[in-house]
Amino acid sequence: MTNRVRKAIFPVAGLGTRLLPATKSMPKEMLTIVDRPLIQYAVDEAREAGIEQMIFVTGRGKSAIVDHFDVAFELESTMRGKARSLEALDRSRAGFGEIVTVRQQQPLGLGHAVWCARHIVGNEPFAVILPDDLMVGSPGALKQMVDAWETLGGNLIAGEEVPADKTASYGIVTPGKQDGALTAVAALVEKPAPEVAPSRLAVIGRYILQPEVLAVLGKSEAGAGGEIQLTDALAAMIGKQPFNALKVDAVRHDCGDRAGFVIANIALALDRPDVGGTVRDFIAGL
Ligand code: UTP
Repeated sequence: MTNRVRKAIFPVAGLGTRLLPATKSMPKEMLTIVDRPLIQYAVDEAREAGIEQMIFVTGRGKSAIVDHFDVAFELESTMRGKARSLEALDRSRAGFGEIVTVRQQQPLGLGHAVWCARHIVGNEPFAVILPDDLMVGSPGALKQMVDAWETLGGNLIAGEEVPADKTASYGIVTPGKQDGALTAVAALVEKPAPEVAPSRLAVIGRYILQPEVLAVLGKSEAGAGGEIQLTDALAAMIGKQPFNALKVDAVRHDCGDRAGFVIANIALALDRPDVGGTVRDFIAGL
């Protein structure tokens, strides 16, 4: 078994109902933040972390996500000579075999989507990236996690303190021993109401996991919301393997939410040398 994280699962088969009607015929992961679709940010972050194989778990109507990483022959030949535009296409061109896909035929939940990739993952540690959690950091969030995981091993999840009234939207950690940004995970509970939440440390959309969780997912029953929950399967690994949460040094934008999506566009636009000034002037004038 390799002790490197070479593969990452991108579960992109969700229906994106919170962003309807935008997501009626377009995948949520193709929504753009400034000029790049969400999936591009996620793949760039994975590449920076040394991931060699991106496994997209897709569903019906999601082929645009895979097409985005293809060679666009007509476009490239038309654009030849216009340097800036060709450069813009660079990172969207995947290497041969860099992206593989598997279908989740019914949206039975995040845990089920991860399980659908089990044959491609095989028996090695793997990352999971939820592209709608856009993470802005340098180094990137997954790179920070891989660096920490190389010492820690086991299962490592990204954690973030959320406001007390938001615990019911997340998997929440019962904290064990704490050491700086690192917290040992003593237990995990999916979407607890604020009155019963064990902490405010929420699981966010980055994970590095051991392959044993895939067998647990295979036997899982539906949990909260009638879906097969990744958090429930992860909870079964606590005590059997090292299990930690890392507060990554990055800003998270929840782009699966309307306000989060708009804020991400403003925040990233303000940071861009090409459009930042114009956007800043507009906001100042409001
Ligand atoms: P969300 O909870 O954001 O669900 O899924 P969703 O369907 O994408 O969006 P809403 O809540 O209806 O607006 C978290 C991640 O898990 C994936 C989603 O694509 C997203 O990346 N997912 C969820 C699947 O791949 N399959 C599922 O059955 C459910």
